[in-house]
Amino acid sequence: MAEYTLVAEKTGELRMDAAAKEERYATLAAQIEATLVGEPDLTAAMASIACLLHNGFPYYFWTGFYRRVSPTRLLVGPYQGTLGCLDIDFARGVCGACATREEAIVVDDVHAFPGHIACDSASASEIVLPVFDAGGALIAVLDVDSTLPAAFDEVDQRWLERIVALLADKEAMPVVWRG
Ligand code: SME
Repeated sequence: MAEYTLVAEKTGELRMDAAAKEERYATLAAQIEATLVGEPDLTAAMASIACLLHNGFPYYFWTGFYRRVSPTRLLVGPYQGTLGCLDIDFARGVCGACATREEAIVVDDVHAFPGHIACDSASASEIVLPVFDAGGALIAVLDVDSTLPAAFDEVDQRWLERIVALLADKEAMPVVWRG
């Protein structure tokens, strides 16, 4: 089991400067890589990534995945934080826009984003990244919300792109075994 970085208290100073982010992401990316070694299951990998990221950063308020379950529909997957919306159509919200464009979206002020879905009114800014399989097909998005305005920047984007790339070779296995 990899060493576990925990920022349990999401109080006090939430914002991190670029240098502090770089350092924390480098530690966490190594922990995530070590945790996922030898684990082929997509859900286990998503859950582990959501946990390590969410507990690793004070400014992460909601951290998790929406899985692509049809050509134009996302369904909530492993996440940490307050209750998330279950279903998101590609035509709605930041997650839908990310899935449609298949590119990362950084939103400094969610209230200014047309069609933003307010699962929790405490969210002020967010970053959403596409997740691709080994063939380059979109299989999910990673959504991170913060209560801080403009919490996310190119440092978050660069590291999170690298982290979600670890999911490309994972397999969506049956959720339960029915003998
Ligand atoms: N922020 C998202 C909705 C999902 S929740 O915030 C967990 C959006 O507008 O796509």
